[in-house]
Amino acid sequence: MTSLVTGGNGFIGHQLVRALLERGEDVVVFDAQDRADLLDPLGERVTFVQGDLAELSDVCTVVEHHRPQTIFHLGALISLAAEMAPQRAFRVNLGGTFNLLEAAKLFDVETLVYASTVAVYGAGVESPVADDAPQFPASVYGASKVASERWAEQHHRLYGTNVRGIRLPTVTGPTRQAVGAGAFGTLIFKEAAFGRPYAIPVTPDTPVAIMYIPDAVRALISLSEISNDRLTRRFYNVAGIAPTVGDMVSAVRQVIPEAELSYRLDEKIQVIVESWPILSQTGAEHDWGWHDGFTLDELVRDFVETARRSCS
Ligand SMILES: NC(=O)c1ccc[n+]([C@@H]2O[C@H](COP(=O)([O-])OP(=O)(O)OC[C@H]3O[C@@H](n4cnc5c(N)ncnc54)[C@H](O)[C@@H]3O)[C@@H](O)[C@H]2O)c1
Repeated sequence: MTSLVTGGNGFIGHQLVRALLERGEDVVVFDAQDRADLLDPLGERVTFVQGDLAELSDVCTVVEHHRPQTIFHLGALISLAAEMAPQRAFRVNLGGTFNLLEAAKLFDVETLVYASTVAVYGAGVESPVADDAPQFPASVYGASKVASERWAEQHHRLYGTNVRGIRLPTVTGPTRQAVGAGAFGTLIFKEAAFGRPYAIPVTPDTPVAIMYIPDAVRALISLSEISNDRLTRRFYNVAGIAPTVGDMVSAVRQVIPEAELSYRLDEKIQVIVESWPILSQTGAEHDWGWHDGFTLDELVRDFVETARRSCS
């Protein structure tokens, strides 16, 4: 069994690649950036193909040559990168999805799994947000993801392309680059793990929807395995956990009592974070048996242990 992972050298993609290898699969990583430092240690069952999602010929060539049964489509310009380069984001995020759908149709790919995001909903929706809530994204990134979702549904309708996807909340993990407004959701754990002080830019009562990286990987693989007749829709919300920032600090202090965490409000970040809704995942629970994974306490313990181990 061969899986192709677009964006396989990114934060979530790399952990997905490792999980697929552990399951005995062969994996092809398609990514714009060459990260031999990440892939070389993973052995011979990983093949790296450098290419551009925005180029139909690059996408068709990799799919035709490797004939994957499953494609996990994670490659994208995310969040701020999309906001800073909207034309490129259109070509990579929407164009890349279009190209993969075409390649999947041409070369009989069995399943195409798409990583979408909570950012499709935008501000002002009431939490918890249902799968079919109206989508009015407030960013280029969110708009490119909504457009990709809707295009994928048309491909499924017209050609029967077996595409499905999940909308993830902010994903956290020790290897995440902490950039953007959601960085604090990683830095609270990471800075405490390494004994560094950290001033949190939002108030303690702010709720934050986050998912630990192993759960995000589990959700992608789990959705890839569900038979079509169990799916009542193509795109599903997965919720993660929704602690307040104060809950996160308390959980860190259970593990690291001396953690130097304080608050220094940044109003711009506060406004952005308050606009992120909490997702309802009743569709995923009902249709494909999705269930919660790491609790907040388990997340903190695993995060701290993994971060410290990777640096020792
Ligand atoms: N990280 C999160 O919190 C989060 C939340 C919701 C959804 N998602 C989705 O999950 C996916 C992966 O996110 P991530 O955090 O791992 O992002 P990331 O930025 O770490 O990884 C994205 C990867 O895509 C690659 N890429 C970018 N442009 C490309 C192109 N033109 N051609 C080929 N490869 C290209 C990058 O080189 C990178 O390796 C994205 O689609 C994102 O929208 C992420």
